[in-house]
Amino acid sequence: MSGLVLLSGAAGRIGTWLRGGLPERGWALRSLDVVPVPDVRPGEEQVVADVTDLAAMTDAARGASALVHMAGISGESTWPAISHANIEGTYCALEAARLAGVPRVVLAGSNHATGYTPRPDGGLLREVDAPPRPDTYYGVSKVAMEGLGSLYVDRYGLDVVCLRIGSALAEPASTRHLSTWLSPADAVSLVDAALTAPSPGFSVVWGVSANTRNWWDLSAARALGYEPQDDAEVYAEALLEVHGEPDLTDPVHGRVGGEYTTAEFDAEQFTA
Ligand SMILES: NC(=O)c1ccc[n+]([C@@H]2O[C@H](COP(=O)([O-])OP(=O)(O)OC[C@H]3O[C@@H](n4cnc5c(N)ncnc54)[C@H](O)[C@@H]3O)[C@@H](O)[C@H]2O)c1
Repeated sequence: MSGLVLLSGAAGRIGTWLRGGLPERGWALRSLDVVPVPDVRPGEEQVVADVTDLAAMTDAARGASALVHMAGISGESTWPAISHANIEGTYCALEAARLAGVPRVVLAGSNHATGYTPRPDGGLLREVDAPPRPDTYYGVSKVAMEGLGSLYVDRYGLDVVCLRIGSALAEPASTRHLSTWLSPADAVSLVDAALTAPSPGFSVVWGVSANTRNWWDLSAARALGYEPQDDAEVYAEALLEVHGEPDLTDPVHGRVGGEYTTAEFDAEQFTA
C-alpha cells in the first residue's frame, strides 16, 4: 500500500527518521511542523502550522490517505503546556482527519501512559495488561491520546493505531534503554506497519526494537506486520561497564516509565 501521508512533528527526531524512511517504502509525504522542516526533499510537501489550529490541520489533511501524528511536547512539562500541545493537539489531529476524510491515523503514544505499571514477575507485559497508569502530566496526555483514538474509532469508524513508544534514540544511552530502545530503522518499520495493516480498528502496541532484554510483549505489534531488526544488546557491554547490571528492584528498571516514576522526577521542576 502507499499514498500520501500527512506527517505532523516532521521536524522532530522521529519525524526526521520517518522523512528519511517512509518515501523508500512508497509513501509520499506532506510534512507539517510548527517550525520549518529543514532540507525539504524532492516531491515532499511542507506545511508550517500549529497542530492546535484545527482549520489549518483540516486543510493540511485534505487528500491524505493517512495522518501520522508525531507533533507535541515529547517529555514532561507544565500542565498548561502539555494539555494544550498534546491533548488539544491530538484532538485537532483526529478531528482534522475526520473532517478531511482521512481514514487512518497513527498516534505517537508513549510508555509513560502506563509508567507506574510494575515489571511482571517473569514473562512479557502485554498492552492489555498495562491499562492507563500515567507517571507524569506528559503520561496523562498520552492516556488522553489513547482515549481520543478509541473514541474516533468507535464513533466515526477511523482506523487508529497508537504506538506506546519506548526510547526512540539513535543509540541506547542507559541500561534502561537496553530494554526500551526503539531504533531509527525500526521506528520507520513500525509506522509503516501501522499504516499498512489491514483494518486495525483501534490498536495500541508497544514500540520497541527486538531487544534481548525486552519485557514489553511485541506480539500485538508483530500482528500488525512489524518486523523489528535491531537489538540494543549490541550496546550492552559498553553500557554495563559504566553503569553495572540493572537492579530490577530499582523503579528505573522495575516500572514501565523508569525514572519518570521516581520521587526526584516531579513536574514542579518544569517551568513554562
Ligand atoms: N523520542 C522518544 O523516545 C519518544 C518516546 C515516546 C513517545 N514519543 C513521542 O513521539 C513523538 C515524537 O517524538 P520526538 O522524539 O520526535 O520529539 P521531538 O521533540 O524531537 O519532536 C516533536 C516535534 O513536534 C513539533 N511540535 C511541537 N508542538 C507542536 C505544535 N503545537 N504544532 C506543530 N508541531 C509541534 C516540534 O517542533 C518538533 O519538531 C512525540 O509525540 C513524543 O511524545 C517519543
